[in-house]
Amino acid sequence: MLRLSPVLFALLPFGAFAQTPDDKFTCRIIYVPTPQVVVDKMLDLVKVTKDDIVYDLGCGDGRIVCTAAKKHGAKGVGVDIDPVRIKECADTMTKFGVTAEQVEIRQGDALKVKDLERATVIVFYMLPEFMEKLEPQVLKRLRPGTRLVAHDYPLPNLKADQMIEFEGPDRSHTLYVWTVKAPKKTVAPAK
Ligand SMILES: C[S@@+](CC[C@H](N)C(=O)[O-])C[C@H]1O[C@@H](n2cnc3c(N)ncnc32)[C@H](O)[C@@H]1O
Repeated sequence: MLRLSPVLFALLPFGAFAQTPDDKFTCRIIYVPTPQVVVDKMLDLVKVTKDDIVYDLGCGDGRIVCTAAKKHGAKGVGVDIDPVRIKECADTMTKFGVTAEQVEIRQGDALKVKDLERATVIVFYMLPEFMEKLEPQVLKRLRPGTRLVAHDYPLPNLKADQMIEFEGPDRSHTLYVWTVKAPKKTVAPAK
């Protein structure tokens, strides 16, 4: 699988890695790891606690969910399509000393997660084509109060509650935070 430097990844145009017609996945994004200081900042921004279930959609080497488990006592679910990344996740779990009860790693399409409703926190570092495809699921499936944090690429139509610039080891990273709101109640007109 192709690896790009984080700086190049941040400059990729929309649709740079769109699916090809024979791609059985809905959308496939290349691997670029989030630097650990940025991972720590993302989990702090959404105030992860031991009561959280943190999903990383496109989890790479699994450091985000392992950090959520080790540092914050949360449960983690990481999903990635690439078998190489899934192997790396196993190594990361060993390195962090987290168990399969704390962190579950799944190989599969992150746009087809069957139990996304369980998430109380979701973390993303994906390109706009993925975020655009995911957005309808955020609106339909997630429970009010679920916190979302995205690295560099936001959900395209949902205005973030918070946006910050964070200085990483090599460049500045833009982080976006949302809390899913309860649907607005429609009041029936008086008869
Ligand atoms: C930019 S990397 C982010 C990795 C990790 N979340 C991080 O921030 O360090 C994107 C990851 O998503 C995975 N990926 C791409 N498309 C995917 C899809 N449709 N479903 C699941 N994983 C996907 C890639 O294999 C890669 O590991």
